[in-house]
Amino acid sequence: MKTTRPLLAALALAIAGGAFAHGDMAPQAVDTHTLPPLGDKPLDDNPYSPTGSKAAANGEAVRIGSSAYNANCARCHGLEAKSGGIAPDLRKLNADCGDAKKPDKACMAEMDQYFFSTVMQGRTRDGRVYMPPFKEIFTQEAIWAIRSYVDTKKPD
Ligand code: HEC
Repeated sequence: MKTTRPLLAALALAIAGGAFAHGDMAPQAVDTHTLPPLGDKPLDDNPYSPTGSKAAANGEAVRIGSSAYNANCARCHGLEAKSGGIAPDLRKLNADCGDAKKPDKACMAEMDQYFFSTVMQGRTRDGRVYMPPFKEIFTQEAIWAIRSYVDTKKPD
């Protein structure tokens, strides 16, 4: 599967390029005022996860993350996080962390970091933008809300 990614990513790039050119796919800011604020310093793992320090906000984070995902990620990563093939299937990100109901905590924290930094920085390889960076538009509350939403989706 890994070997097919560059081709698929190039396709995503072509689609995204066209979409941006039409000006209707600009990143959408996310209203997170109903979530507990987290400050400016990026946290090490998702505080809104069911085992996080602000787990009580999980439901609200999933709600906000769902609409933020649909506005900003679904066109490449697929509706409901089910990839149509042009970008990685985000439901599989935690696959190596063991049982979905009781995942390995250290592994999940590592995936949280990976998710966070990928969304902040986007993905550029050989000077080509495969995924745009979101750091100018998202707060960390927004990124952790999207992570919370994606984590509710399990692979088939
Ligand atoms: C323009 C299309 C596009 C958009 C929009 C986009 N992505 Fe991506 N994303 C990609 C592609 C393509 C890759 C794989 C890049 C590569 O192969 O280096 C990727 C990689 C990732 C990865 C790493 C996945 C892995 O298995 O290694 C994560 C996490 C991710 N994206 C999350 C998001 C989130 C969350 C959003 C919305 C905030 C988003 N992306 C928006 C195209 C996109």
